[in-house]
Amino acid sequence: MSDARRTTAPFGRRLCEVTASEPLGAYRLISALDADGPSPRPGQFYMLSSDHRWGGGAGERPYLPRAFSYARARTDGTLQFLLEAIGPGTERLAELKPGEGLGLVGPLGIGFEAPRGRALLVGGGIGAAPILCLADELGDRGTVLLGFRTAAHAEAALLFDDPEVVTDDGSVGRPALVTELLREQLDADPSVDVYACGPPPMLEAVRALCGEREVRAQLALESGMACGYGACFGCVVPTRSGYVRLCVDGPVLEAGELETALAPGTGHA
Ligand code: FES
Repeated sequence: MSDARRTTAPFGRRLCEVTASEPLGAYRLISALDADGPSPRPGQFYMLSSDHRWGGGAGERPYLPRAFSYARARTDGTLQFLLEAIGPGTERLAELKPGEGLGLVGPLGIGFEAPRGRALLVGGGIGAAPILCLADELGDRGTVLLGFRTAAHAEAALLFDDPEVVTDDGSVGRPALVTELLREQLDADPSVDVYACGPPPMLEAVRALCGEREVRAQLALESGMACGYGACFGCVVPTRSGYVRLCVDGPVLEAGELETALAPGTGHA
């Protein structure tokens, strides 16, 4: 493991001021000032919570923090997170207003390793988040391919410079899966490194396509994470060399290390 893929988190949870919370189609983009935090690596993540109404709502949910890849990190320490309100934790985070406190622990895990040459960056849905900060870093060296369910979800593509976008229903771009764009790009030029984040079926298709063509791919996986720092073993996934904890040994894994990206434990818990 290269140290260049991991920035070590300061000990403990810190409270950061929310500076903006903007609607972005089906998502929200939350900005918070982490002025004293270290610079994260694309692909790393944070455990997020709010400073009140967390652990004390109906049924005391949400209780555990939620794991989020950061979408953007500004030089002034502003971190941005893309979220979709789909449950008690994400709903509470989506309600945060400027001036309120966002609790965070991180950056955690291992991020992406930089490419040797040209890169294809593939994002599906909310998985566009770690692709955005990698695209920021790579500039002209990265071609961004994005797939979304609907036009409302595809508004996240507005965060990118000149991405190629498809949607399931054809409301933006042609009706296609983003892996079809990847196949076309690999057919035209397989001498690339591939980076991907998205739902497990998408990652499995990326893994299989890149495996057939012997193209190196790095996949940012998701799993249910309770602690985020290796203590609970709630995030284990199988690899060719045994089980790993995604929060410390990932979330970015080499596609070649996986028999499948559809293994039990991957995806949202
Ligand atoms: Fe607890 Fe990974 S989330 S060990």
